[in-house]
Amino acid sequence: VTGVLAELAAAVGPANLVTDPDLMRGYLVDWRGAHVGRAAAVVRPGGTEEVAAVLRACRAAGVGVVPQGGNTGLCGGAVPSADGGEVVLSTTRMRRIRELDRENRTITVEAGAVLAAVREAAGAAGLMFPLSLGSEGSCTIGGNLATNAGGAAVLRYGTMRELTLGLEVVLPDGRVWSGLRGLRKDNTGYDLKQLFVGAEGTLGVITAAVLRLFPAARSRVTAWVALPDPAAAVELLGLLPEDRLSCFELMSAESLDLVLAHVPGARSPVPGRWPWHALVELTDSRPEAALAEVLATVLERSPVADAVVAPGRVLWALREGVAEAQNKEGPSLKHDVTVPIGRIPEFVSRTDTALRAAVPGIRIVSYGHVGDGNLHYNLTKPRGTADDEFAARAEALATVVYDIVAALDGSISAEHGVGVAKRDVVAGYKPAVELAMMREIKALFDPGGLMNPGKVVFPAGG
Ligand code: FAD
Ligand code: MLT
Ligand code: ZN
Repeated sequence: VTGVLAELAAAVGPANLVTDPDLMRGYLVDWRGAHVGRAAAVVRPGGTEEVAAVLRACRAAGVGVVPQGGNTGLCGGAVPSADGGEVVLSTTRMRRIRELDRENRTITVEAGAVLAAVREAAGAAGLMFPLSLGSEGSCTIGGNLATNAGGAAVLRYGTMRELTLGLEVVLPDGRVWSGLRGLRKDNTGYDLKQLFVGAEGTLGVITAAVLRLFPAARSRVTAWVALPDPAAAVELLGLLPEDRLSCFELMSAESLDLVLAHVPGARSPVPGRWPWHALVELTDSRPEAALAEVLATVLERSPVADAVVAPGRVLWALREGVAEAQNKEGPSLKHDVTVPIGRIPEFVSRTDTALRAAVPGIRIVSYGHVGDGNLHYNLTKPRGTADDEFAARAEALATVVYDIVAALDGSISAEHGVGVAKRDVVAGYKPAVELAMMREIKALFDPGGLMNPGKVVFPAGG
């Protein structure tokens, strides 16, 4: 490893090669503090050619490379392994917005561009980039692409896959693929960009992307709706106008309790304690869309317990505060699942019943993007239980959750990906032929197994 450091310093400049343990620390642990690794160095290339030089040098030396953007991922995919021999490739210097094409409604950005900055650039041009995540102030477009990020607006605009028209990628052998095409139609063979979206850095380093833009919302109404149960949420969802609904988020009472306890200044928008809460947003590109009236008519016909219309930023802070609030209660067991929307009530009641029987007093913090079928079914230990006693049950509890997800034709990782956290468990829920195809694709692009080693792809016979 020491031999390659001089080459890396030459590739990116000595100031952008970090080997000091204190300066490396932030790159070696994930946002939750759930995954900690070691590395030989952190390298911070300033452009595509420098990424290529880094990958060539690492390949020649047989050194593994771990791409990292904002390091907000929730499956440990951006954290190096514990062996200390890998190099973290941080994209944070590559944050240029290369072009905004109004006629084509596209924006071309570098992989290290922070999502919030891309949303702002689109907004400044009177357009909109719809990907919206609680982590948008730190996560990068490269990380969003590599995890096929979802978030709050998927029901209307799709995940990162649907928002991407072209990519620029450096392959593990250092070749640059310039696929920055801004075309909505391009049937010239395999859709190669989609291999890299959701690959979590296991097939190459994404260096830039062409993303779709949309008309900005000129009318908006945001409401907080108290509900008796998830079935009422699904019924309300079905009544809302699909062409104007931009977000439909659900939170259990226990999720809101944590936010009220840990987010300074947070207040419940509705009086009393209700079992479930939906955050509903309607938007329209026309300024005169009268959305408040549309929403009021729907709410009158629906099974809501109470509802309040309020400024979006106030309500969104309650929803987006859940992940951080739950972190403050100690280690949590995260399950990022999806089932067909109509089966959410059954999923919640079956899983809640099974878990409460298994661990009396368990705190089930379920919330998420129910408008697209995705629930974050996260667990916090009962009060008074030791962290390691709870952690020791993680696998058994996950099996309860995932077996019910599988029985309901769902997926055990909806939007956060696989990383290391889910690699082995995902393998248990995929057909053998699917695992084999994944291994074959990995071997084709990365025969030496040096791109984000040990992540996503379950090894044959492992
Ligand atoms: P990182 O964490 O740095 O990396 C994630 C993965 O991508 C790693 O495997 C890494 O190796 C790879 N990678 C990063 N950059 C590149 C690149 N240029 N080329 C190749 N591979 C690369 N996710 C959602 O989908 N929806 C949500 O609503 C959501 N909400 C969140 C809220 C909070 C508070 C937090 C902390 C996280 C949330 N996430 C959510 C998860 C996370 O923010 C997203 O997955 C985000 O897309 C990760 O971006 P990042 O730049 O931080 O990636
Ligand atoms: C969110 O939607 O808030 C995150 O994706 C969820 C999480 O932290 O589990
Ligand atoms: Zn989410």
